[in-house]
Amino acid sequence: MDHFRIHGGIPLHGTVTIGGAKNAALPMLSACVLTPQRCVLHGVPRLHDVDTMLKLLTHVGVQWERNGNGGATVNAQAEKIAASEAPYTIVKTMRASSMILGPLLARTGHARVSLPGGCAIGARPMDQHLKAFKEMGAEITIEEGNIAARADRLRGVEITFDMVTVTGTENVMMAAVLAEGQTILNNAAREPEVVALAEMLSQMGARVVGAGTARITIDGVEQLHGTEVTIIPDRIQAGTYLIAAAMTNGDVAVENCPLSHLEALQTKLTEAGARIEKSAPTATPTVRVVGPRKLRSVDITTAPFPGYATDLQAQWMAAMTIADGASAITETIFENRFMHVAELRRMGAEITVDGHTAIVKSVAKLSGAPLMATDLRASASLVLAALAAEGQSDIQRVYHIDRGYERIEEQLYSLGARIERVR
Ligand code: EPZ
Repeated sequence: MDHFRIHGGIPLHGTVTIGGAKNAALPMLSACVLTPQRCVLHGVPRLHDVDTMLKLLTHVGVQWERNGNGGATVNAQAEKIAASEAPYTIVKTMRASSMILGPLLARTGHARVSLPGGCAIGARPMDQHLKAFKEMGAEITIEEGNIAARADRLRGVEITFDMVTVTGTENVMMAAVLAEGQTILNNAAREPEVVALAEMLSQMGARVVGAGTARITIDGVEQLHGTEVTIIPDRIQAGTYLIAAAMTNGDVAVENCPLSHLEALQTKLTEAGARIEKSAPTATPTVRVVGPRKLRSVDITTAPFPGYATDLQAQWMAAMTIADGASAITETIFENRFMHVAELRRMGAEITVDGHTAIVKSVAKLSGAPLMATDLRASASLVLAALAAEGQSDIQRVYHIDRGYERIEEQLYSLGARIERVR
């Protein structure tokens, strides 16, 4: 099992280019099921989770191939649906597979999708997804751990989510585009990945208004046609590199950086003393981040977009362990997203957790140590901490990080980090 060996204490310098967003690619690949025509997706990241989604599409009967530069382009065509199902063997490795439910239900009128179990960061139920499908007229039963859904044709209704759910919004939006009548989603997720999916659906002939706001209106159509899209850059990947540069007293240019999707982080980095300069007023500029000798401590509270992203909480905590002062980090989205605390403590961090809030007290330095990755973003936080620490760290179970970061060790190596993947 691969692990990372990192010798820390080296400021990062150089340029890194951000790839396509995992959390946009996954729903957009699912959306290919909604039409028998060909869809072309450019800028699809080479990630383990994307490979899992492609395996699921194969299982469903979608013909696809990767080509283009470095395989970043995926041609997919769901001419026929061979199996309207997502088996446990696939869903257990990636809960986002459950986003195939809406498209299958809309396309075929039935679907059998394994209920995803919990995961390291929380129970992550799907009750909001299922409640919406039931309100749209689907018959939903749970059979041997599977969601069995049937609906001759879904009908548009007004739905209000009890809480903001990103994949819930995406799953239901993909079901609604082929439903009879109008669907209104209240308390919808506003994430850029939701907007990207809505744009793809609209290009396919769907009628979606309001994506990016808390109220999305979808007027169902009879059928959708194929399209060609480019995946938006990954704001969480970009944010991870911005924090890495800031906390290692570095000077890094982040290319293809969706800064407009990172306003909350940009505010916090500036408050903490990092300098952020953008090259041009485009949506994805090159952003230069210069870290101070020592960051100032700054509190964060995670929230749905456009608030501070929960997927950047662990990375911020790593930065705050060596910042000047004490900071409070409050996690409001998931109930167990402090798995990185125990590992950071092994490096000498001083962190106390009280419910949903972690208090991080400044220490002069972190010390390298043997570490264990537990989930995708916690792993990223350990890599960042190891980069800033004195001495050597060995991080086990890096398959977690390969789910969401393309060749992170190569990217960091090119920024001057002493990091290697040990097989
Ligand atoms: C998406 O997960 C992302 N994954 C997550 O990124 C991200 O952390 C999360 O949104 C929040 O931004 C993808 O987009 C593939 P939610 P999702 O539904 O949709 C509760 C990463 O690291 N909830 O917005 O599964 C849920 O338990 C991953 O890339 C219900 O109770 O998250 C959580 O506490 C990790 N019932 C909260 O809502 C439901 O039916 C938000 O979850 C749905 C959600």
